[in-house]
Amino acid sequence: MNIILLGPPGAGKGTQAKILEEQHGLKQLSTGDMLRAAIAAGTEVGKKAKAIMDRGDLVSDDVIIGIVADRMDQPDIKAGVTFDGFPRTPAQAEALDGMLAGRKQKLDAVIEMKVDDEALVERISGRYTCAKCGKGYHEKFAPAKKAGVCDSCGGTEFTRRPADNEKTVRDRLQVYNKQTAPLVAYYAAKGNLHVIDGMADITRVTGEIGAVLKKVKG
Ligand code: AP5
Ligand code: MG
Repeated sequence: MNIILLGPPGAGKGTQAKILEEQHGLKQLSTGDMLRAAIAAGTEVGKKAKAIMDRGDLVSDDVIIGIVADRMDQPDIKAGVTFDGFPRTPAQAEALDGMLAGRKQKLDAVIEMKVDDEALVERISGRYTCAKCGKGYHEKFAPAKKAGVCDSCGGTEFTRRPADNEKTVRDRLQVYNKQTAPLVAYYAAKGNLHVIDGMADITRVTGEIGAVLKKVKG
C-alpha cells in the first residue's frame, strides 16, 4: 500500500508517518529528512538544498524527483510507502504517477491533514528532535516523559531545525498555499483524496488515518 500525507508545515505528517511505519509497516519516505541527511553528509544535493531550505523555499523538482526515484529502487520499500512532504508541486505529482506506474504499483490514498495556520506556527515553534534517533517531540503537545531524556533511545541531546521560527513558518505556509495546495484538486479529480481533521490530538489523528486505510483496503 502506498499513501501520501498531504498537509502544510507542522500538520503532523512526520509524526504520523513514523506511527504508520510502526503500526502498518509502511516505510516513511520524507524528502525533508532525506535533504537534512544530505546536508549533514555534505553531499552535492545537500550543498544545493541548504540555503533554499533555510529560507523556506522549495528545492528544485529535478533534485527532488531524482532522490525519490533512487529511494524507490531500494528493496526495503516494496511493501509500501508513506510519502511525507512529497509530492509538493504538480510536476512532482506527475513524476510520482510515472514512478509508480513504471514499478507496477499504485497510489492507494492521499490523506489531506487540515490544520489552522496559528496552530501550525505553535506546533513548529515548540518542535524538537532527538539528535541520536530522530524521534520528534513538542514542548507542550508531546514532551519527553522525562525532561531532557529521549523516550525511545535514552539520548540526551536534542536539535531544532534552523527554519523552525515564526517568520520562516509563515513563508513556508505561503509557499504551501501557492505551490502545493493545488495538489488537493489534482488528487480529488483522481478520486483518491481523503480529508481528515489534523487539529485533533495525535492519537485521534492516528485513528482517523487508520480508518482511511481500512476503507481503502476494502
Ligand atoms: P519538510 O521536512 O517536509 O517540512 P514541512 O513539510 O514544512 O513539514 P514539517 O516537517 O515542518 O511538519 P510535519 O507536518 O512533518 O509536522 P511534525 O509531525 O513534525 O521540508 C523541509 C524543507 O525541505 C522544505 O521547506 C523545502 O525547502 C524542502 N523540501 C522537502 N520536501 C520537498 C519537496 N518535495 N520539494 C521541494 N522541497 C522540499 O509535527 C510538528 C510538531 O507538532 C511536532 O513537534 C509534533 O510533536 C507536533 N504535533 C504533531 N501532531 C500534532 C497534533 N495532532 N497535535 C499537537 N501537536 C502535534
Ligand atoms: Mg516533517
